Amino acid sequence: MIVIPGPASQELGQKIAELLKTKVVPVEFKRFPDGESYIRFDGKIETEDVIIVQTTSPPQNENLLQLFLMADNAKDMKARTITAVVPYLAYSRQDKRFRSGEAFSIKTIVTLLEACGVHGIITVNVHNPEILKAFRIRFDDLSAISLLAEHFKDQGFDGAFSLSLGKKARAVAAEANNVLNGGHGYIETRRDRLTGKVTVERKTLPVKGKDVIIFDDIISSGGTMIKAIEWVREQGAKSVYAACVHPLLVGDAKDKIMKSGADGIVGTDCVPSTVSLVSVAPLIAKALAKRGA
Ligand code: R5P
Repeated sequence: MIVIPGPASQELGQKIAELLKTKVVPVEFKRFPDGESYIRFDGKIETEDVIIVQTTSPPQNENLLQLFLMADNAKDMKARTITAVVPYLAYSRQDKRFRSGEAFSIKTIVTLLEACGVHGIITVNVHNPEILKAFRIRFDDLSAISLLAEHFKDQGFDGAFSLSLGKKARAVAAEANNVLNGGHGYIETRRDRLTGKVTVERKTLPVKGKDVIIFDDIISSGGTMIKAIEWVREQGAKSVYAACVHPLLVGDAKDKIMKSGADGIVGTDCVPSTVSLVSVAPLIAKALAKRGA
């Protein structure tokens, strides 16, 4: 097995290789003046089980293109198998045609990865795990929620209340509560497809005087998290933290979340950022070791 840390996940790829004690094949990459990507592998690929680590957070189109170039290159260089570790899988929120005539974006991405010779995909807390069953390719969707909860426990938040956003994500709060043991719940969230405006359910929660950790898969604009923080604050929580697997934090999302009353934001290195305090390397290394490439 060899690990190729892609341009978007250099540190994470190195960490995974160290944990697996496998060889790293470095990638030479650059962007041409017109914006096109250049990729070159500096090592042997032939007959190897190749693990390409490349997240596809913004700039997602460039990161995806680099992933396609790397996978197709590994195929041409006669890799035995190709596994794409894509901690944040871009376009996974467009998991159906919400309105007639829309592109089914995640299907297109998966189709292209298969065409580039990818045999299996490992991802982390994909937005809608159900959708993965629709594809032929092997998907491993790992959960980093316990790792995030353990981080808070280590920081002295044992007994904090775990809250997740959206009914479908209620298992997320339950998973965090297995670590934090302070009770759990969810509130429904809704985004208007046309205006983008987010509303959260004003449901009474047992959070008065408690530390509350709000778990979500993604923080993008921060709109959903901000509404949830405001609601939890209104109900008298002692402290409120935002925890997410994929801290996209587009624009000034981080500042807006802090101004809305958060005491802190913690994410993982699925998406490298200033709040990526939790590494998913052990989770991914374990999954790779288990599946034997
Ligand atoms: C929605 O279903 C997701 O779980 C996140 O809550 C959402 O994608 C976050 O987006 P934003 O930060 O733009 O509100």
